[in-house]
Amino acid sequence: MKTISRLFLIAGLVSLSACTPSQKNAETQNVTSENQVIETIMSRRSIRKYRQQPVEMEKLQQILDCGINAPNGQNKQSWEIRVVNTPEYISELDSLNRSLALAKGIDASKIRHASYGAPVMIFIANDTTYDFSQVDCGLLGANMILTAESLGLGSCCLGGIARTMRLPEAESLLKRLELPENYNLLYAISFGYPDESPAAKPRKAEKIKFIE
Ligand SMILES: Cc1cc2nc3c(=O)[nH]c(=O)nc-3n(C[C@H](O)[C@H](O)[C@H](O)COP(=O)(O)O)c2cc1C
Repeated sequence: MKTISRLFLIAGLVSLSACTPSQKNAETQNVTSENQVIETIMSRRSIRKYRQQPVEMEKLQQILDCGINAPNGQNKQSWEIRVVNTPEYISELDSLNRSLALAKGIDASKIRHASYGAPVMIFIANDTTYDFSQVDCGLLGANMILTAESLGLGSCCLGGIARTMRLPEAESLLKRLELPENYNLLYAISFGYPDESPAAKPRKAEKIKFIE
């Protein structure tokens, strides 16, 4: 785990030093650092409410370029990436999520959009024949999330969506992603302009141990 955590940090540092510097004002996030990469990492929070403002294609391309520049095992790039930035697919997914939640008896007023109303969703699939593929996919996502933050965009990792999309009711949605054989939809990430600024959740620093 220690090695993987380090890899994530290095991925963020490497990609962000090559990408656009953070535009976020650290003081608004109670983070003060002269270092823009650290500032970006520490300011990022999962965003679950978005403005109805499209993400510019140039920014989306930067996010994707930084994503695929993540470190990855043997440079196999053992991921498949599907970008959805048109409303039809996302609203179909949101409707399915809603009907599944209603069928489970969840109160209609408590059901949120699967996409959280984000205009862009990126679906990430891993190669089931490669044992480090999930690490590759995680590092890819970390790069994209931190790049988005540096560009003033919010994001949220969505594991639950992958579970939903493996259900028989979601068969046509999954099929439209055109994933090759041996690839498994691992997770998705929503992207858009944030319409909330959540506080940082506490972290368990006691999980870090220095070994002599
Ligand atoms: C693998 C993974 C799966 C996640 N799945 C979901 C999800 O399905 N829905 C959601 O709202 N957030 C999801 N999250 C976001 C986490 O809840 C969030 O990162 C965590 O609570 C820490 O908060 P922060 O990102 O604001 O620091 C996921 C995050 C990861 C890394």
